[in-house]
Amino acid sequence: MSNKMWGGRFATGPDAIMEEINASIGFDQRLFRQDIAGSIAHATMLAETGILTGEDRDSIIAGLTEVLAEIEGGSFTFSRALEDIHMNVESRLREKIGDAAGRLHTARSRNDQVATDFKLYVRDTIDTLVVQVNTLQLALVTKAEDEAETIMPGFTHLQSAQPVTFGHHLLAYVEMLGRDAGRLLDARKRLNESPLGSAALAGTPYPIDRHMTAEKLGFDRPTANSLDAVSDRDFILETLAAASICAMHLSRLAEEMVIWSSAQFGFVRLSDKFTTGSSIMPQKRNPDAAELVRAKIGRILGALTALLVVMKGLPLAYSKDMQEDKEVAFDALDSLSLSLAAMTGMVSDMVPNRERMRVSAAAGFSTATDIADWLVRQVNIPFRDAHHITGQIVALAEQKGCGLEGLTIEDFKFIDQRIDSRIHKVLTVEASVAARQSYGGTAPANVLVQAARWKTELTGQPHEPRPLGKKKHGGHGDGGVE
Ligand code: ARG
Repeated sequence: MSNKMWGGRFATGPDAIMEEINASIGFDQRLFRQDIAGSIAHATMLAETGILTGEDRDSIIAGLTEVLAEIEGGSFTFSRALEDIHMNVESRLREKIGDAAGRLHTARSRNDQVATDFKLYVRDTIDTLVVQVNTLQLALVTKAEDEAETIMPGFTHLQSAQPVTFGHHLLAYVEMLGRDAGRLLDARKRLNESPLGSAALAGTPYPIDRHMTAEKLGFDRPTANSLDAVSDRDFILETLAAASICAMHLSRLAEEMVIWSSAQFGFVRLSDKFTTGSSIMPQKRNPDAAELVRAKIGRILGALTALLVVMKGLPLAYSKDMQEDKEVAFDALDSLSLSLAAMTGMVSDMVPNRERMRVSAAAGFSTATDIADWLVRQVNIPFRDAHHITGQIVALAEQKGCGLEGLTIEDFKFIDQRIDSRIHKVLTVEASVAARQSYGGTAPANVLVQAARWKTELTGQPHEPRPLGKKKHGGHGDGGVE
């Protein structure tokens, strides 16, 4: 039997393989809410503009409401022969209300319908993702505030560079995530134009009111070009690009957690809730959740790449190729959502080992730059020369097998007579981080100010910086948990 919806000129139905390659119901059924909302808005508009009788509108809306309840209640049977969510819903509507169902598709096409549904879905998803990003940010800010005075090694090239505060390090991710949320919201702004009523590609001769349906569906305005409306997929590409960048940020943080939680680093302990054991090595706590978050960028960026390749070279307007947009996009957006949730849990639960971080921060002559800076400021030596002198000091410490703190004042004077005992003050990691109060620098005081700023922004409630030296929650290893 040929297809009820479009099979008028067909003598037979499709080959089984054709049905399999053609159907999208397996994945687009999750658009049912958006599809029904779009149809209700369309039917309402058709009645307001006199294209549909009030009676037909009422039975269409009542029928669609029942269909919605059936799908939500799990009693709806999806049919692959009916290809996609649009025809599944409409066919069920016809079973319920008869001929009036056939009038719903006046002045529209599946081409504008699917673009509308998918835009509504992506818009809702962006809203959820932004809330999730903000939740993760708040978890990071909360930790950052607790760890404003915790000193860890700062790395460049993964080599010890200068001491930084753990709070400062965590707040770096809060900044990245803030831009990620901004990118998602930018995409939302641009996507929020309604394709509905563009019909197949050329618009429609019926006196429809596209502004009305746009408004009913929460769009800012209708799209201005019907060809563009049915063939545009930048809204999902842009969202996937923003999602990829966000996933890349999560991947970097995940990688740091893997490193930090290794026995060799031992900077943090991840909770049992986000690690697994090994069936053969009893001592192991594997950071699986972090590793999986680290990996998810692969499929998220893969979705962006896949869809860009699908879209390139497609002539206007709609082509069936574009049905390939949904499966990968759903998977990518689901993956990002899951990654954000997992990362929020890991961040909230991780327990830093403050002593371990401090000891590691002091290793590798990490305050050498502070000696050079001292020479510049106290002895008025040009920085390049100060750098050279400091190099000799480091070499001496290396020779003596001690840290910079272990050098005596005689040692310093041996290298340069102009150095005096005040140098010892700048050698500690505490002094090093406390001194970096330049705007955006790592000093604990700065971290507390930035944490309060983010808390205010993320919660909408004013927050004052917590006073220095009053840690609220304990980590391991600092002996002085308050
Ligand atoms: N399932 C289709 C898709 O996802 C709906 C649009 C079909 N349009 C068409 N003219 N066959 O793209």
